[in-house]
Amino acid sequence: MSYREEVARAAKLIQDRIRTVPKVAVVLGSGLGSLADSLEDAVTVPVAGIDRWPVSTAPGHAGRLVSGRLGDVPVLVMQGRVHYYEGYSPEEVAFPTRVLGEMGVPFYFATNASGGVSHDLSPGDLVVLHDHINLQGFNPLRGRNEDDWGPRFPDMTFTYDRELIAIAEEAASSLGERLKRGVYAAFPGPSFETPAEIRMIRTLGADLVGMSTIPEVIVARHMDMRVCVISCVANYAAGMKEAVMTHEQVMKEMGKAAGRLSRLLKSMVAILGSRVP
Ligand code: HPA
Repeated sequence: MSYREEVARAAKLIQDRIRTVPKVAVVLGSGLGSLADSLEDAVTVPVAGIDRWPVSTAPGHAGRLVSGRLGDVPVLVMQGRVHYYEGYSPEEVAFPTRVLGEMGVPFYFATNASGGVSHDLSPGDLVVLHDHINLQGFNPLRGRNEDDWGPRFPDMTFTYDRELIAIAEEAASSLGERLKRGVYAAFPGPSFETPAEIRMIRTLGADLVGMSTIPEVIVARHMDMRVCVISCVANYAAGMKEAVMTHEQVMKEMGKAAGRLSRLLKSMVAILGSRVP
């Protein structure tokens, strides 16, 4: 079966099980899985039963797909994503996003953990992305273009939807939460960056660094989904403090921020539900 057919089959399988088209898909990054617990009328879709659905091997990525409602808004929460560094191909990394696009989900929200590159950021800060720098060395759209999925050369000027950034900022201010704006740069990983690499990307305009999200965002935009990404700063990027970097430290910081991030996402979905048809 072709990739396209596999995507269509997975979309139908999920659709048959959840029986609504979600308005918003929310993809939760490392240690940020708690939003799924707040869904009303939750239905878990066992992804193990979906051919080609890539299963995360990274610690802190539960790999669950849960559909339900937040208030009146039907949402689909994906707990855990897969990463290029796990050995998955670009097509595999993009598969869940393709399925969401194929289902007709109009809004794609994602969260991730990042290192703070800007001197204005500290661990625990929440940042809404307004742009990215792809240093992962690949583009998930490489290869033959499926014209009915999207154009060969998609625009990336308006990748991070301005109305959704405004909604995120409004939601944050209603919660008394500080939300900064930033540019996210992604390396392939899985080694953390060197101090020189961090200085380089700061010079290039990056505020945050991570190892994920960009491939999915490119695919979501290819399929004309409206994208919003909230990043949570887990650590000062390499070389900024006299300290070693560990995944445990990232997970610990994300555990502390998970509740705040869930509240922010809930409020964003509520505003979206009330304002955007
Ligand atoms: N670098 C890359 N990815 C990350 C980091 C980092 O410092 N923190 C959390 N994810």
